[in-house]
Amino acid sequence: MLSDITDKDIEFKDYKKQSDIHGTALYPAVMIAPIQKKILKELLSEDNTIHTVFDPFHGSGTALYEASTLSSDIDVIGCDINPLANLFTRVKLEGINIQHIYKDIDSLKSFINTSSTVQIEKLSFHKIEKWFKPDIIDALSLLKSAITNIKCKRNRLYFWYMLSDIIRKYSNTRSTTYKLHIRPQTMIDSLPSGDCLIEDYISRVEKNVNKFKYHTSKYKLYKEDILSKIKHFHSNNFDISITSPPYGDNATTVPYGQFSMLSLYIIDKKDLKLEGWELENYSIIDNHSLGGKKSKVVLSDFEKSLLEPYLSKIKESMHKKVITFFSDYFSFLKELVRVTNKYIIITLGHRTVDRVKINLTQITQDYLVQYHFNNILTRTRDIKKKRIPKVTSIVDDQPVSSMNKEYISIFQYQE
Ligand SMILES: C[S@@+](CC[C@H](N)C(=O)[O-])C[C@H]1O[C@@H](n2cnc3c(N)ncnc32)[C@H](O)[C@@H]1O
Repeated sequence: MLSDITDKDIEFKDYKKQSDIHGTALYPAVMIAPIQKKILKELLSEDNTIHTVFDPFHGSGTALYEASTLSSDIDVIGCDINPLANLFTRVKLEGINIQHIYKDIDSLKSFINTSSTVQIEKLSFHKIEKWFKPDIIDALSLLKSAITNIKCKRNRLYFWYMLSDIIRKYSNTRSTTYKLHIRPQTMIDSLPSGDCLIEDYISRVEKNVNKFKYHTSKYKLYKEDILSKIKHFHSNNFDISITSPPYGDNATTVPYGQFSMLSLYIIDKKDLKLEGWELENYSIIDNHSLGGKKSKVVLSDFEKSLLEPYLSKIKESMHKKVITFFSDYFSFLKELVRVTNKYIIITLGHRTVDRVKINLTQITQDYLVQYHFNNILTRTRDIKKKRIPKVTSIVDDQPVSSMNKEYISIFQYQE
Protein backbone atom coordinates (compact mmCIF):
# COMPACT_ATOMS: atom_id res chain seq x y z
CA MET A 1 0.00 0.00 0.00
CA LEU A 2 1.05 3.56 -0.63
CA SER A 3 0.95 4.42 3.09
CA ASP A 4 3.37 1.54 3.81
CA ILE A 5 6.15 3.21 1.82
CA THR A 6 8.90 4.31 4.22
CA ASP A 7 11.93 6.57 3.87
CA LYS A 8 14.02 3.40 3.62
CA ASP A 9 11.90 2.13 0.72
CA ILE A 10 12.82 5.16 -1.34
CA GLU A 11 16.51 5.23 -0.49
CA PHE A 12 17.56 3.18 -3.53
CA LYS A 13 21.14 3.44 -2.31
CA ASP A 14 22.47 1.00 -4.87
CA TYR A 15 20.53 2.36 -7.81
CA LYS A 16 22.82 3.35 -10.66
CA LYS A 17 21.32 5.36 -13.49
CA GLN A 18 23.94 3.81 -15.74
CA SER A 19 22.05 0.54 -15.58
CA ASP A 20 19.01 1.90 -17.43
CA ILE A 21 17.88 4.44 -20.02
CA HIS A 22 18.12 7.37 -17.56
CA GLY A 23 21.90 7.13 -17.39
CA THR A 24 22.39 7.44 -21.15
CA ALA A 25 22.57 11.26 -21.15
CA LEU A 26 23.27 13.70 -18.35
CA TYR A 27 20.60 16.22 -17.34
CA PRO A 28 20.71 18.31 -14.14
CA ALA A 29 18.68 17.49 -10.99
CA VAL A 30 16.85 14.46 -12.34
CA MET A 31 14.40 12.40 -10.31
CA ILE A 32 15.36 8.92 -9.14
CA ALA A 33 13.47 6.68 -11.56
CA PRO A 34 12.70 3.70 -9.26
CA ILE A 35 11.13 6.04 -6.66
CA GLN A 36 8.74 7.51 -9.18
CA LYS A 37 8.03 4.05 -10.53
CA LYS A 38 7.30 2.61 -7.08
CA ILE A 39 4.84 5.38 -6.22
CA LEU A 40 3.12 5.30 -9.59
CA LYS A 41 2.84 1.51 -9.46
CA GLU A 42 1.20 1.68 -6.04
CA LEU A 43 -1.29 4.33 -7.17
CA LEU A 44 -2.13 2.44 -10.35
CA SER A 45 -2.76 -0.75 -8.42
CA GLU A 46 -4.99 1.06 -5.89
CA ASP A 47 -6.98 2.99 -8.49
CA ASN A 48 -7.79 1.48 -11.89
CA THR A 49 -9.42 4.65 -13.19
CA ILE A 50 -6.06 6.40 -13.76
CA HIS A 51 -5.42 7.00 -17.46
CA THR A 52 -3.43 10.21 -17.75
CA VAL A 53 -0.13 11.24 -16.18
CA PHE A 54 1.19 14.78 -16.54
CA ASP A 55 4.64 16.19 -15.82
CA PRO A 56 4.62 20.00 -16.21
CA PHE A 57 8.43 20.24 -15.81
CA HIS A 58 9.40 16.96 -17.46
CA GLY A 59 13.17 17.57 -17.76
CA SER A 60 14.82 14.42 -19.08
CA GLY A 61 11.49 12.56 -18.94
CA THR A 62 12.15 10.28 -15.96
CA ALA A 63 8.59 10.20 -14.60
CA LEU A 64 6.85 10.17 -17.98
CA TYR A 65 8.98 7.26 -19.20
CA GLU A 66 8.38 5.27 -16.02
CA ALA A 67 4.63 5.95 -16.12
CA SER A 68 4.40 4.99 -19.77
CA THR A 69 6.24 1.68 -19.32
CA LEU A 70 4.02 0.72 -16.35
CA SER A 71 0.79 0.39 -18.33
CA SER A 72 -0.23 0.55 -21.97
CA ASP A 73 -3.47 2.24 -20.80
CA ILE A 74 -1.64 5.38 -19.72
CA ASP A 75 -1.35 8.55 -21.80
CA VAL A 76 1.59 10.69 -20.72
CA ILE A 77 1.67 14.44 -21.25
CA GLY A 78 4.58 16.75 -20.47
CA CYS A 79 5.92 20.24 -20.80
CA ASP A 80 9.35 21.83 -20.50
CA ILE A 81 10.73 25.18 -21.60
CA ASN A 82 14.09 23.67 -22.53
CA PRO A 83 14.36 22.21 -26.07
CA LEU A 84 17.07 19.76 -24.94
CA ALA A 85 14.75 18.35 -22.26
CA ASN A 86 12.06 18.04 -24.93
CA LEU A 87 14.43 16.14 -27.23
CA PHE A 88 15.61 13.80 -24.45
CA THR A 89 12.07 12.92 -23.40
CA ARG A 90 10.88 12.48 -26.97
CA VAL A 91 13.73 10.04 -27.68
CA LYS A 92 13.05 8.03 -24.51
CA LEU A 93 9.36 7.68 -25.37
CA GLU A 94 9.73 7.20 -29.14
CA GLY A 95 12.73 4.88 -28.94
CA ILE A 96 14.68 3.86 -32.01
CA ASN A 97 13.49 2.31 -35.25
CA ILE A 98 14.91 -1.16 -34.71
CA GLN A 99 14.58 -2.22 -38.36
CA HIS A 100 16.79 0.63 -39.54
CA ILE A 101 19.13 1.31 -36.65
CA TYR A 102 22.02 -0.97 -37.62
CA LYS A 103 21.87 0.17 -41.25
CA ASP A 104 21.84 3.79 -40.01
CA ILE A 105 24.84 3.20 -37.74
CA ASP A 106 26.68 1.71 -40.76
CA SER A 107 25.75 4.77 -42.88
CA LEU A 108 27.02 7.04 -40.12
CA LYS A 109 30.34 5.19 -39.99
CA SER A 110 30.75 5.11 -43.75
CA PHE A 111 29.96 8.86 -43.99
CA ILE A 112 32.74 9.47 -41.44
CA ASN A 113 35.20 7.16 -43.20
CA THR A 114 34.67 8.81 -46.59
CA SER A 115 34.49 12.35 -45.20
CA SER A 116 37.64 13.47 -47.04
CA THR A 117 35.69 13.25 -50.32
CA VAL A 118 32.78 15.52 -49.25
CA GLN A 119 32.53 19.15 -48.22
CA ILE A 120 31.74 19.36 -44.48
CA GLU A 121 30.03 22.51 -43.23
CA LYS A 122 32.07 23.85 -40.32
CA LEU A 123 30.16 24.53 -37.10
CA SER A 124 29.96 28.16 -36.16
CA PHE A 125 28.20 30.00 -33.33
CA HIS A 126 28.95 32.78 -30.88
CA LYS A 127 32.09 32.01 -28.82
CA ILE A 128 32.53 28.52 -30.28
CA GLU A 129 36.35 28.86 -30.04
CA LYS A 130 36.05 29.57 -26.33
CA TRP A 131 34.21 26.31 -25.69
CA PHE A 132 35.92 23.92 -28.13
CA LYS A 133 39.46 23.30 -29.45
CA PRO A 134 39.85 23.45 -33.26
CA ASP A 135 40.13 19.65 -33.78
CA ILE A 136 37.03 19.12 -31.61
CA ILE A 137 35.10 21.65 -33.74
CA ASP A 138 36.14 19.67 -36.84
CA ALA A 139 35.08 16.35 -35.30
CA LEU A 140 31.70 17.75 -34.16
CA SER A 141 31.15 19.35 -37.60
CA LEU A 142 31.74 15.96 -39.20
CA LEU A 143 29.35 14.20 -36.82
CA LYS A 144 26.70 16.86 -37.38
CA SER A 145 26.89 16.33 -41.17
CA ALA A 146 26.82 12.54 -40.72
CA ILE A 147 23.75 12.67 -38.43
CA THR A 148 21.90 15.19 -40.62
CA ASN A 149 22.33 12.68 -43.47
CA ILE A 150 20.27 9.98 -41.66
CA LYS A 151 16.80 9.74 -43.17
CA CYS A 152 14.92 7.92 -40.39
CA LYS A 153 13.81 10.66 -37.99
CA ARG A 154 13.51 8.48 -34.87
CA ASN A 155 17.06 7.23 -35.32
CA ARG A 156 18.37 10.68 -36.18
CA LEU A 157 16.93 12.02 -32.93
CA TYR A 158 18.61 9.14 -31.05
CA PHE A 159 21.93 10.10 -32.66
CA TRP A 160 21.50 13.72 -31.51
CA TYR A 161 20.57 12.54 -28.03
CA MET A 162 23.74 10.43 -27.82
CA LEU A 163 25.82 13.40 -28.99
CA SER A 164 24.87 15.58 -26.02
CA ASP A 165 27.16 14.01 -23.38
CA ILE A 166 29.98 13.84 -25.93
CA ILE A 167 29.65 17.57 -26.56
CA ARG A 168 30.12 18.35 -22.87
CA LYS A 169 32.86 15.79 -22.32
CA TYR A 170 35.05 17.19 -25.11
CA SER A 171 34.24 20.86 -24.50
CA ASN A 172 36.35 23.33 -22.56
CA THR A 173 33.73 23.64 -19.81
CA ARG A 174 34.22 22.03 -16.41
CA SER A 175 32.42 18.80 -15.61
CA THR A 176 32.14 19.74 -11.93
CA THR A 177 29.36 22.28 -12.48
CA TYR A 178 26.26 22.58 -14.66
CA LYS A 179 27.21 26.17 -15.45
CA LEU A 180 29.44 26.98 -18.41
CA HIS A 181 32.73 27.57 -16.64
CA ILE A 182 36.01 27.35 -18.54
CA ARG A 183 38.50 24.64 -17.52
CA PRO A 184 42.06 25.65 -16.65
CA GLN A 185 44.30 25.79 -19.75
CA THR A 186 46.37 22.77 -18.63
CA MET A 187 43.21 20.65 -18.57
CA ILE A 188 42.11 21.96 -21.95
CA ASP A 189 45.51 21.08 -23.39
CA SER A 190 45.22 17.53 -22.15
CA LEU A 191 41.69 16.88 -23.53
CA PRO A 192 41.54 13.89 -25.90
CA SER A 193 41.63 14.56 -29.66
CA GLY A 194 38.80 14.89 -32.18
CA ASP A 195 39.53 11.33 -33.40
CA CYS A 196 38.96 9.99 -29.87
CA LEU A 197 35.69 11.93 -29.74
CA ILE A 198 34.40 10.22 -32.88
CA GLU A 199 35.43 6.77 -31.64
CA ASP A 200 33.85 7.44 -28.23
CA TYR A 201 30.64 8.63 -29.87
CA ILE A 202 30.23 5.60 -32.17
CA SER A 203 30.89 3.26 -29.27
CA ARG A 204 28.19 4.96 -27.12
CA VAL A 205 25.69 4.89 -29.98
CA GLU A 206 26.26 1.16 -30.45
CA LYS A 207 26.37 0.30 -26.76
CA ASN A 208 23.09 2.00 -25.86
CA VAL A 209 20.85 0.83 -28.70
CA ASN A 210 19.28 -1.89 -26.52
CA LYS A 211 18.06 0.65 -23.96
CA PHE A 212 15.92 2.45 -26.56
CA LYS A 213 13.74 -0.41 -27.77
CA TYR A 214 10.65 0.76 -25.88
CA HIS A 215 8.22 2.77 -27.99
CA THR A 216 4.91 4.45 -27.29
CA SER A 217 2.72 6.72 -29.35
CA LYS A 218 0.54 7.56 -26.33
CA TYR A 219 2.38 10.73 -25.42
CA LYS A 220 2.22 14.46 -26.02
CA LEU A 221 5.04 16.88 -25.22
CA TYR A 222 4.95 20.67 -25.24
CA LYS A 223 8.14 22.73 -25.56
CA GLU A 224 6.71 25.81 -23.88
CA ASP A 225 6.61 27.92 -20.76
CA ILE A 226 4.26 25.98 -18.48
CA LEU A 227 2.86 29.21 -17.02
CA SER A 228 1.22 29.99 -20.36
CA LYS A 229 0.62 26.41 -21.53
CA ILE A 230 -1.17 25.18 -18.41
CA LYS A 231 -3.95 27.76 -18.84
CA HIS A 232 -5.02 25.97 -22.03
CA PHE A 233 -5.68 22.58 -20.46
CA HIS A 234 -9.23 21.68 -19.40
CA SER A 235 -10.01 21.40 -15.70
CA ASN A 236 -9.40 17.89 -14.25
CA ASN A 237 -7.56 16.94 -17.45
CA PHE A 238 -4.93 14.77 -15.75
CA ASP A 239 -5.50 11.97 -13.24
CA ILE A 240 -1.99 12.28 -11.82
CA SER A 241 0.42 15.19 -11.98
CA ILE A 242 3.93 14.07 -11.10
CA THR A 243 6.78 16.52 -11.18
CA SER A 244 9.89 18.09 -9.77
CA PRO A 245 9.84 21.84 -10.39
CA PRO A 246 12.87 24.12 -10.07
CA TYR A 247 13.45 24.98 -6.37
CA GLY A 248 14.40 28.59 -7.10
CA ASP A 249 15.32 30.76 -10.08
CA ASN A 250 17.65 28.86 -12.47
CA ALA A 251 20.38 31.51 -12.32
CA THR A 252 21.04 30.97 -8.61
CA THR A 253 19.99 27.31 -8.27
CA VAL A 254 20.35 24.93 -11.25
CA PRO A 255 21.04 26.54 -14.67
CA TYR A 256 19.25 23.95 -16.86
CA GLY A 257 19.44 26.34 -19.82
CA GLN A 258 23.14 27.12 -19.60
CA PHE A 259 23.85 23.41 -19.18
CA SER A 260 22.06 22.74 -22.49
CA MET A 261 23.32 25.57 -24.68
CA LEU A 262 26.37 23.93 -26.29
CA SER A 263 24.22 20.97 -27.40
CA LEU A 264 21.44 23.28 -28.57
CA TYR A 265 23.86 25.30 -30.73
CA ILE A 266 25.16 22.09 -32.37
CA ILE A 267 22.06 19.91 -32.89
CA ASP A 268 20.30 20.65 -36.19
CA LYS A 269 17.59 23.25 -35.49
CA LYS A 270 15.17 21.30 -37.69
CA ASP A 271 15.26 18.45 -35.18
CA LEU A 272 14.61 20.65 -32.14
CA LYS A 273 11.27 22.07 -31.05
CA LEU A 274 11.99 25.80 -30.96
CA GLU A 275 9.75 28.81 -30.51
CA GLY A 276 12.48 31.03 -31.99
CA TRP A 277 14.02 32.89 -29.03
CA GLU A 278 15.91 30.01 -27.37
CA LEU A 279 19.28 30.39 -29.09
CA GLU A 280 19.59 34.18 -28.75
CA ASN A 281 22.19 33.97 -26.00
CA TYR A 282 23.61 31.58 -23.41
CA SER A 283 21.34 32.73 -20.56
CA ILE A 284 18.04 33.23 -22.33
CA ILE A 285 16.43 29.89 -21.38
CA ASP A 286 17.30 30.39 -17.71
CA ASN A 287 15.95 33.94 -17.87
CA HIS A 288 12.64 32.71 -19.31
CA SER A 289 12.34 29.88 -16.77
CA LEU A 290 10.37 29.86 -13.51
CA GLY A 291 11.36 32.84 -11.36
CA GLY A 292 13.71 34.23 -14.05
CA LYS A 293 11.47 36.76 -15.72
CA LYS A 294 11.31 40.32 -14.58
CA SER A 295 7.51 40.41 -14.86
CA LYS A 296 5.33 42.24 -12.36
CA VAL A 297 5.00 40.37 -9.10
CA VAL A 298 1.57 40.05 -7.55
CA LEU A 299 1.12 38.01 -4.35
CA SER A 300 -2.15 37.53 -2.51
CA ASP A 301 -2.25 38.10 1.26
CA PHE A 302 -2.36 34.34 1.78
CA GLU A 303 0.72 33.84 -0.42
CA LYS A 304 2.54 36.64 1.42
CA SER A 305 1.73 34.96 4.72
CA LEU A 306 3.41 31.73 3.55
CA LEU A 307 6.64 33.58 2.76
CA GLU A 308 6.67 35.96 5.69
CA PRO A 309 8.42 33.59 8.19
CA TYR A 310 11.36 33.35 5.78
CA LEU A 311 11.45 36.91 4.47
CA SER A 312 11.52 38.26 8.01
CA LYS A 313 14.93 36.54 8.44
CA ILE A 314 16.39 37.32 5.01
CA LYS A 315 18.03 40.66 4.30
CA GLU A 316 15.83 42.96 2.26
CA SER A 317 18.14 43.19 -0.74
CA MET A 318 17.51 39.46 -1.29
CA HIS A 319 13.73 39.52 -0.98
CA LYS A 320 13.14 40.27 -4.63
CA LYS A 321 14.58 37.04 -5.97
CA VAL A 322 12.58 34.97 -3.46
CA ILE A 323 9.34 36.82 -4.17
CA THR A 324 9.81 36.69 -7.95
CA PHE A 325 10.29 32.93 -7.83
CA PHE A 326 7.29 32.33 -5.57
CA SER A 327 5.07 34.58 -7.63
CA ASP A 328 5.64 32.20 -10.58
CA TYR A 329 5.52 29.10 -8.39
CA PHE A 330 2.17 30.00 -6.84
CA SER A 331 0.69 30.90 -10.25
CA PHE A 332 1.77 27.46 -11.39
CA LEU A 333 0.29 25.65 -8.34
CA LYS A 334 -2.99 27.48 -8.74
CA GLU A 335 -3.37 26.09 -12.25
CA LEU A 336 -1.99 22.67 -11.30
CA VAL A 337 -4.82 22.07 -8.83
CA ARG A 338 -7.32 23.04 -11.51
CA VAL A 339 -5.99 20.65 -14.16
CA THR A 340 -5.31 17.70 -11.80
CA ASN A 341 -8.14 15.31 -11.16
CA LYS A 342 -6.82 12.99 -8.42
CA TYR A 343 -3.19 13.04 -7.27
CA ILE A 344 -0.22 15.40 -7.24
CA ILE A 345 3.19 13.83 -6.63
CA ILE A 346 5.92 16.39 -6.18
CA THR A 347 9.65 16.06 -5.47
CA LEU A 348 11.19 19.14 -3.86
CA GLY A 349 14.42 20.43 -2.38
CA HIS A 350 14.91 23.27 0.10
CA ARG A 351 17.24 25.99 -1.04
CA THR A 352 19.06 28.38 1.24
CA VAL A 353 18.87 32.16 0.80
CA ASP A 354 20.93 34.35 3.10
CA ARG A 355 21.48 31.30 5.33
CA VAL A 356 17.75 30.76 5.70
CA LYS A 357 16.50 27.39 4.48
CA ILE A 358 13.22 27.83 2.62
CA ASN A 359 10.93 24.90 3.37
CA LEU A 360 9.37 24.55 -0.05
CA THR A 361 7.67 21.30 0.97
CA GLN A 362 5.79 22.97 3.84
CA ILE A 363 4.90 26.00 1.72
CA THR A 364 3.59 23.68 -1.02
CA GLN A 365 1.54 21.63 1.47
CA ASP A 366 0.03 24.78 3.01
CA TYR A 367 -0.83 26.06 -0.44
CA LEU A 368 -2.33 22.87 -1.85
CA VAL A 369 -4.52 22.11 1.16
CA GLN A 370 -6.39 25.36 0.47
CA TYR A 371 -7.45 23.76 -2.81
CA HIS A 372 -8.52 20.42 -1.25
CA PHE A 373 -5.34 18.58 -2.13
CA ASN A 374 -4.44 16.92 1.15
CA ASN A 375 -0.99 15.63 1.88
CA ILE A 376 -1.35 11.84 2.23
CA LEU A 377 2.36 10.99 2.35
CA THR A 378 5.72 12.77 2.57
CA ARG A 379 9.00 10.92 2.51
CA THR A 380 12.57 12.22 2.79
CA ARG A 381 15.68 11.04 1.02
CA ASP A 382 19.35 11.98 1.23
CA ILE A 383 20.77 13.24 -2.04
CA LYS A 384 23.82 11.08 -2.65
CA LYS A 385 25.99 12.69 -5.24
CA LYS A 386 25.64 16.32 -6.12
CA ARG A 387 27.42 18.72 -8.35
CA ILE A 388 26.41 21.45 -5.92
CA PRO A 389 28.56 20.73 -2.83
CA LYS A 390 26.70 20.28 0.50
CA VAL A 391 28.52 23.36 1.74
CA THR A 392 28.33 26.05 -0.90
CA SER A 393 29.91 29.07 0.67
CA ILE A 394 31.19 30.70 3.82
CA VAL A 395 29.32 33.73 5.13
CA ASP A 396 30.55 35.50 8.29
CA ASP A 397 32.87 32.53 8.94
CA GLN A 398 29.90 30.13 8.92
CA PRO A 399 29.52 27.41 6.28
CA VAL A 400 26.29 27.71 4.30
CA SER A 401 24.77 24.39 3.34
CA SER A 402 23.08 23.78 0.00
CA MET A 403 20.31 21.22 -0.59
CA ASN A 404 21.22 17.74 0.56
CA LYS A 405 17.81 16.20 1.08
CA GLU A 406 14.84 15.80 -1.19
CA TYR A 407 11.21 15.45 -0.17
CA ILE A 408 8.61 13.47 -2.05
CA SER A 409 5.05 14.47 -1.20
CA ILE A 410 1.81 12.94 -2.43
CA PHE A 411 -1.44 14.89 -2.38
CA GLN A 412 -4.93 13.60 -3.03
CA TYR A 413 -7.97 15.61 -4.01
CA GLN A 414 -10.58 15.25 -1.28
CA GLU A 415 -13.79 17.24 -1.39
C1 LIG B 1 14.08 19.65 -11.62
S1 LIG B 1 14.05 19.78 -13.36
C2 LIG B 1 13.04 18.41 -13.81
C3 LIG B 1 13.86 17.16 -13.90
C4 LIG B 1 13.02 15.95 -14.27
N1 LIG B 1 12.12 15.60 -13.20
C5 LIG B 1 13.93 14.78 -14.60
O1 LIG B 1 13.90 13.76 -13.91
O2 LIG B 1 14.71 14.90 -15.55
C6 LIG B 1 13.05 21.17 -13.64
C7 LIG B 1 12.72 21.43 -15.12
O3 LIG B 1 11.86 22.56 -15.16
C8 LIG B 1 12.07 23.21 -16.42
N2 LIG B 1 11.47 24.56 -16.34
C9 LIG B 1 11.88 25.64 -15.61
N3 LIG B 1 11.04 26.68 -15.79
C10 LIG B 1 10.06 26.25 -16.63
C11 LIG B 1 8.90 26.86 -17.18
N4 LIG B 1 8.55 28.12 -16.89
N5 LIG B 1 8.12 26.13 -18.00
C12 LIG B 1 8.44 24.83 -18.29
N6 LIG B 1 9.54 24.20 -17.82
C13 LIG B 1 10.33 24.91 -16.99
C14 LIG B 1 13.58 23.17 -16.58
O4 LIG B 1 13.93 23.34 -17.93
C15 LIG B 1 13.91 21.78 -16.02
O5 LIG B 1 13.98 20.83 -17.06
